[in-house]
Amino acid sequence: MTDGSSPFVQEIVRDLQRTQARISPKFFYDKTGSTLFHRITTLEEYYPTRMERAILEKASEEIARSIGECWTVIEPGAGSCEKAEHLCRLLRPRSFVGVDISADYLADGVERLRGTLPGLSVHAVAGDLTEELLLPPDLPMPRRTVFFPGSSVGNFEPDEAVALLSRILRLLDSDGLLLLGVDLQKPIDVLEAAYNDSDGVTEAFNLNILNHVNRLIGGNFRAADWLHRAYFNKERSRIEMHLEARRATAVAWSGGRRRFKQGESIHTENSYKYSLESFRDLLERAGFDRSEVWTDDQGWYALFLARPGAARKSQRRIAS
Ligand SMILES: C[S@@+](CC[C@H](N)C(=O)[O-])C[C@H]1O[C@@H](n2cnc3c(N)ncnc32)[C@H](O)[C@@H]1O
Repeated sequence: MTDGSSPFVQEIVRDLQRTQARISPKFFYDKTGSTLFHRITTLEEYYPTRMERAILEKASEEIARSIGECWTVIEPGAGSCEKAEHLCRLLRPRSFVGVDISADYLADGVERLRGTLPGLSVHAVAGDLTEELLLPPDLPMPRRTVFFPGSSVGNFEPDEAVALLSRILRLLDSDGLLLLGVDLQKPIDVLEAAYNDSDGVTEAFNLNILNHVNRLIGGNFRAADWLHRAYFNKERSRIEMHLEARRATAVAWSGGRRRFKQGESIHTENSYKYSLESFRDLLERAGFDRSEVWTDDQGWYALFLARPGAARKSQRRIAS
């Protein structure tokens, strides 16, 4: 598909022409990319999914007690909806709304959820989290829990993460809650192994972005010309993923082209690793407060449960 006027095409072409070329990580997720991501979550080296699930299982009673009555669970970036199923069994909401950029993959996920939890009203929304989040118009406002697992918040620059969390806050009433997974700082060898697995699944996931981009912009990227690179940037406290040109390469797309020197890279993902304090600070900047947190024994991964702050409450009181 090539439509030069589409915002996605414009974004990709603009980002490819930057001095440090980049492709937004949201373009990882065509159907192949979503399937590869799901495989990543099962890898030995990829600790976040395993740890998050373990924390959720161990603290499930406490989490359920802290959340209390929940009418609606909303999951931005719901993907396969596997984690949503677990949370919906725990909280027994009336409805679930999954939002994802990968619409076909989400459609399969919600279909499975309808099958396993037949009493739950399930909605799928194809949407981009970097924009305003649009929910079904008749969704009741009270007693919503936004569930944002998988440390997806780490893929955003800290200021963008604050903006995203503020958009999430606008989906909540004063009794709303945000339950989200955050990957914490840990030894560099553990971090780097998680993004350089021995089966090469993360490499395939990173390279697949080029196939997706080719389809979107009518490009001629050849995956064989690019190397997967993932390393920890200590100064910025983030894993960076890049695709590095194996040799001097010219890439063309409908209406444009760019030459890459050998060794030049396209930056495809960041995954920020926070301390508990630095993430709490982010939540506060976005307008959340009184957060509770659960971690594993090593303090490598955290589940935060955050509530709208006092400013949010008085705003709604004035508005109503
Ligand atoms: C890291 S996966 C997490 C999936 C699942 N929530 C989990 O925890 O295993 C990120 C998910 O968010 C979706 N996604 C990524 N960027 C997005 C964006 N900008 N807007 C909407 N969905 C996005 C992807 O399609 C994918 O399903």
